[in-house]
Amino acid sequence: MQSIDNKFQLFEEKKRLAEAGGGNERIAKQKSKGRLTARERIEAFFDIGSFNEFDRMVTHKCINFDMEKTIIPGDGVVAGYGKVDGRLVFAFAQDFTVFGGSLSRTNADKIIKVMKQAMKMGAPVVGLNDSGGARIQEGVLSLAGYGDIFKLNVQASGVVPQISAIMGPCAGGAVYSPAITDFIFMVKDSSYMFVTGPEVIKTVTHEEVSKEELGGPMTHNAKSGVAHFIGTDDENTLMMIRELLSFLPSNNIDEAPVLPTNDPIDREEKDLQHLVPSDPNKPYNMLKIIEAMADDRYFFEVMEHYAKNIIIGFVRMDGRTAGVVANQPDYLAGVLDINSSLKAARFVRFCDAFNIPIITLVDVPGFLPGTVQEFGGIIKHGAKLLYAYAEATVPKITLIVRKAYGGAYDVMASKHLGADINYAYPTAEIAVMGPEGAVNIIFRNEADEKSKAKKVEDYRENFANPYKAAELGYIDEIIYPRNTREKIISALEMTRNKREDNPPKKHGNIPL
Ligand code: HXC
Repeated sequence: MQSIDNKFQLFEEKKRLAEAGGGNERIAKQKSKGRLTARERIEAFFDIGSFNEFDRMVTHKCINFDMEKTIIPGDGVVAGYGKVDGRLVFAFAQDFTVFGGSLSRTNADKIIKVMKQAMKMGAPVVGLNDSGGARIQEGVLSLAGYGDIFKLNVQASGVVPQISAIMGPCAGGAVYSPAITDFIFMVKDSSYMFVTGPEVIKTVTHEEVSKEELGGPMTHNAKSGVAHFIGTDDENTLMMIRELLSFLPSNNIDEAPVLPTNDPIDREEKDLQHLVPSDPNKPYNMLKIIEAMADDRYFFEVMEHYAKNIIIGFVRMDGRTAGVVANQPDYLAGVLDINSSLKAARFVRFCDAFNIPIITLVDVPGFLPGTVQEFGGIIKHGAKLLYAYAEATVPKITLIVRKAYGGAYDVMASKHLGADINYAYPTAEIAVMGPEGAVNIIFRNEADEKSKAKKVEDYRENFANPYKAAELGYIDEIIYPRNTREKIISALEMTRNKREDNPPKKHGNIPL
């Protein structure tokens, strides 16, 4: 009979094997690329000592290609739960040292267990991905594992926040599951995402492209819009995820944590009074308004490198999380185009799903004209933003800072789409189009330049202001810029217990 000590020893040995992952050589290779191991990532991510691991002893069952000779307890994924700032969070981290972090049937089941627990307990799931995709030796078993994960990702969507970090070279299924989650983080110089890698592309299309260019962090943060954040290294990325979580509720029923602030709610911002230039064609930086209104002037921006003509992100107002969507006149005059519509629409839907009020700051000259936009489907993509705002039942507070022209006026959380409070600055211009465009159409046959200029001035005076909309009740209140923080906080307070439901249905049909 084995002594108790022997039993403990066996237990220690099995734990050690699980911790050794793919062995020292592969761990050294992982480290030489500036990357942490899966276990180090989990340690760095959670509050100290709070992580509890599931399924450390699980092994794969594959007997193809001599796989039964390489059995590593845990099978290449570390999974479990712990605390982030004292709040329950579930996580899994793929271990690249074990078959390149590839997904086996058994490690898919570990991830599925974590996701199901997270949904049941109402806590976020964080996936630290570092994987070559489906485990090739397992064939369809691995594909089945991915399919099951995808299905759960979809079921969890809108129930608990799902956050992905791409922390190595991720291919195939290892990028599709993150794509369904709410936010994707990448790591500078060491993470890549692609459905098919450079080698396959070279064979099929004869294009030569580097890993970095094809699927590096800037490609996905600035060009494709697949990713939302870039961290400077593994640790920094994990800290950014912790910060994002601090703004979010744990699930679709709970409220986001409240962070009390010493920043006075009636703090006046004199600098805002003259931020908007008197020349309507001059840009200014919308971030200044966001920072001026936010608690401690702090704005946590999302997708800062993509479609910079619109800004999205989180602030706290009197301690409570709010989502911000704002046109950025400093970039392409703040115009709405395909990319900015997509960026904002998905964010609006995230906020709505998780009961986060939305503050919309408007300075938009309209939709971007041109064949590129029309052929690219600006009609349906712009409609997504409209749809998202109209469908959202969370508190919606809108402030028109300057331009709100044409369809873009309607789209940007207008009264007509159900905004609860619509403010405007005295500098607001709300009309079907800008003065020059309007005069060129209405007075098409007017040849005299002087008379045309006068008509432009008349139009500007009569229509390019907030008063027509205010007379109709489409603007609830015209406010001084210096009072922005106080007025928005008061609107958020007023709407805190808002109850609004859309008609019962299976689901709507957003123009995808
Ligand atoms: C099994 C894998 C693997 C995989 C990598 N490895 N990917 N083992 N299945 N999918 C193993 C390697 O054999 C190697 O083992 C170790 O992991 C490290 O891989 P390297 O190639 O040495 O690393 P690196 O040079 O950094 O390249 C990483 C990589 C590359 C870019 C991820 O390995 C790669 O291209 N892998 C295949 C990617 C792929 O095509 N996956 C299938 C996708 S299809 P040793 O023993 O040498 O350490 C898919 C379908 C899902 O996922 C459905 C989606 C809808």
